[in-house]
Amino acid sequence: MAKLLIKNGLVISPTGVIANDVLIDGEKIAAVGAPGWFESSEQGCDKVIDAKGKYVIPGGVDVHTHMELPFGGTFASDTFETGSRAAAWGGVTTIVDMAVQRYGENVFDGLAEWHRKATGECAIDYAFHQIIGGVDDQSLKDMKYLTEHEGISSFKLFMAYPGVFYSDDGQILKAMQTAAECGAMIMMHAENGPAIDVLVQQALARGETDPRYHSYTRPSPLEAEATHRAIVLSHVAGNVPLYIVHMSAGDALNEVAAARHNGRNVFAETCPQYLWMTLEETLGQPGFEGSKWVCSTPVRSRDHDPHYIGQMGHGHQGDLWKGLRMNELAVVSTDHCPFCFKDQKELGLGDFSKIPNGIGGVEHRMELIYQGVVAGELTLERWVETCCTTPARMFGMYPQKGIIAPGSDADVVVWDPNTKTKIGINDKHHMNMDHSAWEGWVIDGKVDTVFSRGTVLIDNDQYVGRKGHGKYIKRGLSQYLV
Ligand code: URP
Ligand code: ZN
Ligand code: ZN
Repeated sequence: MAKLLIKNGLVISPTGVIANDVLIDGEKIAAVGAPGWFESSEQGCDKVIDAKGKYVIPGGVDVHTHMELPFGGTFASDTFETGSRAAAWGGVTTIVDMAVQRYGENVFDGLAEWHRKATGECAIDYAFHQIIGGVDDQSLKDMKYLTEHEGISSFKLFMAYPGVFYSDDGQILKAMQTAAECGAMIMMHAENGPAIDVLVQQALARGETDPRYHSYTRPSPLEAEATHRAIVLSHVAGNVPLYIVHMSAGDALNEVAAARHNGRNVFAETCPQYLWMTLEETLGQPGFEGSKWVCSTPVRSRDHDPHYIGQMGHGHQGDLWKGLRMNELAVVSTDHCPFCFKDQKELGLGDFSKIPNGIGGVEHRMELIYQGVVAGELTLERWVETCCTTPARMFGMYPQKGIIAPGSDADVVVWDPNTKTKIGINDKHHMNMDHSAWEGWVIDGKVDTVFSRGTVLIDNDQYVGRKGHGKYIKRGLSQYLV
């Protein structure tokens, strides 16, 4: 079992930034001590990293990815092998991917398929949520079994995509009641799908086919309304824990904030694309270029939508950054769902509704949220809290994951704040895509060294990990329940 020492760095946790040395023994963090504390053990270490001037943070935990997701007649372009390797390049050491059950399919078949895709392929540790695309008596029973026996304690439902993943309010209520009985978390894609489908058909009938209409036909009130409805249903179902995924709108965030102020078990995540990208600069680009940024919920306009009377006065992005500071948004995930431009995004040429929904970003979340620290939007502690610690606690993996503490898995990233990273297809880019949604972005900071359970994955700008290193994590219940 290798012994490793990371010395002279600044160790970051949600509660502080402290000069400390970290001793790793095998797969676990053995001890954290004041600088120089382990000097006498140094000789016996297999590797000593001098992290002077650098941050030492827990490995990132990305709780929302879609490797090989079947969507829109194609599959997300990252496999577990390529996507988990790209995650490692980005300082992420755990992903929670979404296993899929669609209407008419068996939950266990969907889960088995996800295990087949991931087993022996991953560079980093991984767990699963289960998408329930067909709520019926059998899938409700299966939810209980998965929670109690398979380490899958969270279930994603969709209020959008009628005919694909959509559940109606009655089905949602039943799934929530089941989750309430077994302590599981309901994750909600909160957009009013039937209303969106009407707007999409009307836009297409008017000849509005460009990618930007993807956002115009999914206005923020339809995210806010669905968020509100999900919150009401979760209340009626017995205050089941509810986690709203990929939140992009200030008006939807207001609904979560109100529920939380009322003491409800309601949580939400956002993603880097909503914190940094605007409709005007991405989806709104001329021609078909904007298809690279088609995802749902959509990236939103710089200002609040014209028909929405903003409450906070600084656009959706300002609302989201504020929400992150106030803990109205608890987590940043990526919703990593990559599609190539060629042959995949191009499926929607001439009809924006046929563009596969998703952006690839698993590699860039830690870097992009660190930019929030540089920009003065977040503290270092909050960066680590929203990207590492809270995701682990929210989904039952803490303190194994998400913290640098004795006994925790030695998932550690040495972060260099004194250098820059250029993102782009010919620069830093390891996802299996022919473009980057972040092409040309030059950002502060860089992933230096990445350890997963004491094994070095990234060092000196080289990937030295291997597929199959990553293990399946059986999760417990959320550790944020009241
Ligand atoms: O556009 C997105 N978000 N694609 C992935 C599927 C989902 O709804 O999360
Ligand atoms: Zn979704
Ligand atoms: Zn998603």
